[in-house]
Parts: sequence; C-alpha cells; structure tokens
Amino acid sequence: MTDVAPLARVRGSIRVPGDKSYSHRAVLLAALAEGRSSLRGLSAGADVAATLDAVARLGARVEPEGDRWWVSGPAGGLRASAAALECANSGTTMRLLCGVVAGVPGTHRLVGDASLSRRPMDRVAAPLERMGARVRGEGPSLHAPLVVEGGALSGVEYHVPVPSAQVKSAVLFAGLRASGSTTVVESVRTRTTTEDAMREAGLDVAVAPEGPGRRVTLNPGRPNPRAWAVPGDPSQAAFFAVLGAIHEDASLEVVSLDAAPERVGFVEVLARMGARVALHDHGTYHSLSALSSTLVATEVHSHEIPSVDEVPILTVAACAAEGITAFRSMAELRVKESDRFAGSLALARQLGAAAWAEGDDFFVEGLGAARRFAPFTLEAALDHRMVMAASVAGAAGRGCVIEGADTVASSYPHFFRDLALLA
Ligand code: S3P
Repeated sequence: MTDVAPLARVRGSIRVPGDKSYSHRAVLLAALAEGRSSLRGLSAGADVAATLDAVARLGARVEPEGDRWWVSGPAGGLRASAAALECANSGTTMRLLCGVVAGVPGTHRLVGDASLSRRPMDRVAAPLERMGARVRGEGPSLHAPLVVEGGALSGVEYHVPVPSAQVKSAVLFAGLRASGSTTVVESVRTRTTTEDAMREAGLDVAVAPEGPGRRVTLNPGRPNPRAWAVPGDPSQAAFFAVLGAIHEDASLEVVSLDAAPERVGFVEVLARMGARVALHDHGTYHSLSALSSTLVATEVHSHEIPSVDEVPILTVAACAAEGITAFRSMAELRVKESDRFAGSLALARQLGAAAWAEGDDFFVEGLGAARRFAPFTLEAALDHRMVMAASVAGAAGRGCVIEGADTVASSYPHFFRDLALLA
C-alpha cells in the first residue's frame, strides 16, 4: 500500500524518463543491425528492460555502461530463442516483437504478466499471417501466451482496422525481412516513432498523407548501427501538466521532451480547458510549463490523442473543471493495461465527480474550482498510468492510498520520488 499525501504547494523542474515508444524502437533496430549501437536516455522502465532482455535472448549482445546501453546485432541476424520471450507488462514489447520474430525462422514463444495476457493480439496476428507467419494464442482474441512460427515473409498492403501504432509497427518490423515492399495504411494518424526511427537507421520508408490518415511504404533492409539519443517521454509529462493545472498553488516545468504532434494532443486539450500549460521549443527538445489554473469543461475526441494514453489523467483534469467534459470514441481504452474506460469512470466517481458512459463515449461533470477531491483508495490492477493519474489526483486533492502502486515501474520507476521533489 502506498500513501500519496496532499502536496501543500508544487514547485520545481522534472526530468521524466526517456520516451518509452522510441526506446523500444531503438533497441529493436539496434538488435536488427549488424554491429554495435549506443543508446542514451533509454526509458528506465521495466517495459523497455523486457525488450532489452528479449533481444538478448534472440542473440543480440546487450551491455550497460554508466548511463548508456550498447546493443550489438549479430552478423548472421537474430535467431530463435529456446526460452520464452518474457514481455512482462509491455504490450509494445509483445506486439513489436511479434513483427520482429515473424521474419526469424523457427518457433518463438512470447509470454506476459496477467494484464498483458488478457490483451488482444489478433490485431497483430492477422497481418503477420497474411505475410506468411503463423501466430497462435489463447481464445478468440489470441491473447498470450503466444507461439509465432517465423520464416519467409512477403510484403503486403495492410489497412490497419484499429488506430494503433503498435499494429502499424509490427507490420513494418516484419516488412524489414519480407520479400518486396510493405505498405501500411492507417485512417487515424498514430505516432510515427517507428517510421522516424527506421529512417534514422538508414532504411527506405516513405510516408504520404492519405485522407485523414497516412500511407507508409517500407522496402526491406537491414538497419544501420548508430548512436541513439532518446528524448523525454511526453506521456509522462502529461501527469505533471495536469498536476500543475489543477493544484491551487503550482508552478512547474518538465524538461527535455519529445513533442511530436501525435504525442502532445493533451496540451491542446488542456489549453482549451483554460489551463496555463505550454510547450516551449528549445531546438532539439521541448520543455513544458504548468501553472495553477481555473479549468472549464471541453470535448475530447480520441483522434486528438490517438493512443488514448493521456485520457486517464485528462479525466482527472475534467474532475477539477467546471461543467461536463465529453470523451468521445474511447473504445480502445478498454484494451490497455487495464480497462481504462471503466477505470477512468470509477476514478472520477471516487473523486466526487459525476461520471457516466454512453456507448464508447463517457462524460465527467467536474467539481469546479470551489470544491476539493475526496480522499480515495485505488487498486492498481497492474496499470502504471492509472497509478500515476490517481497519484496526481491525490497529491492535488486530499490524498489517496494505492494498492499495487509499484506497477509504475513499467514506465516510470522514480515517479514517486519525482512527485516528492515537487513538494
Ligand atoms: C505505443 C502505442 C500505443 C500506446 C502505448 C505505446 C507504441 O498503443 O498506448 O503506450 O509505442 O507504439 P496502441 O498502438 O495500442 O494505440
């Protein structure tokens, strides 16, 4: 049990962990390259540690040195591991690895924790099977444990049926080893981390707009080894942005961030709510500042925040706002580390707000500036983002108790230390 005490005031500057999405891609591309790559600023979380562990099992050499990692891809390429690839809590590890091992001959077993073992993997199995791999899993949605039979693949054109960067990325990773080019068409613009990292590694990727979405075409190839430098994770900055905005006496900044448009939709949402939250461009990286604010309700569409990762923390902002905030088309929230659709509604109610669902939309009637959040208890259900969202609510309100809060280690092992630094 972790007690999160209310913070009397919030001041200071935070450096969040390296971007989790970019860290996974950098590790995988380094392992697929021939030769040694250095990686600085990697996410220190257990999710990326699982990816490092998996590529080591597949034959890459992985060595920590001070604040950086060295990853060397074997000259003959990755090979199947006799032991299972342990993906722990990390959906990105499991889905991207499926794409990687689809092109590695042999049988690959992928396992995860209780949360990951409930999440649908049919979304990656379908395109990979079309490319020539075989993917077996449990139940109709093919959840883990998974068995992937890798081998010769052919390029495909695949229209991703759900907005998911992980699915797009699994297909692109498989496409590296396929014969012929691979095209992925998405109707919602999801994060471009894979396309960007592949281009940085010297691969031939072309991206073109297609309606509201994009068409990504990749030619097969082997990435170059290189020096990877990972920026800070904007999804982690979102927790502090909301803390700053809803706390009655706050002034904080978060430094050294990536600010790709698909990642910082939450800043625009908060600005519409009247939050004094802003991104500042420092050339290579951005910083984010947040000051105590008076918030009003808004309407949030999942297209603005394609991975919906920031919706739980925006729900906390909605609880502090005056009026009814609408969250539209939020079905994907149900298949994250926990059912965040139900979890966000439950959290809002625990804080004392009224919250209700209509189909895939949900609504939160906030308490407004005059009232304070109620104290509450949360069962973390192996979901790092629900723990951090709840902690922000507790720190800005009247405290909370979290059972299983150590699950923050998936993405942000020092979250509670950083929160305390702001006191
Ligand atoms: C991620 C994509 C998103 C996001 C996850 C990281 C990635 O998942 O929720 O935290 O690194 O590609 P979906 O692809 O399922 O939206």
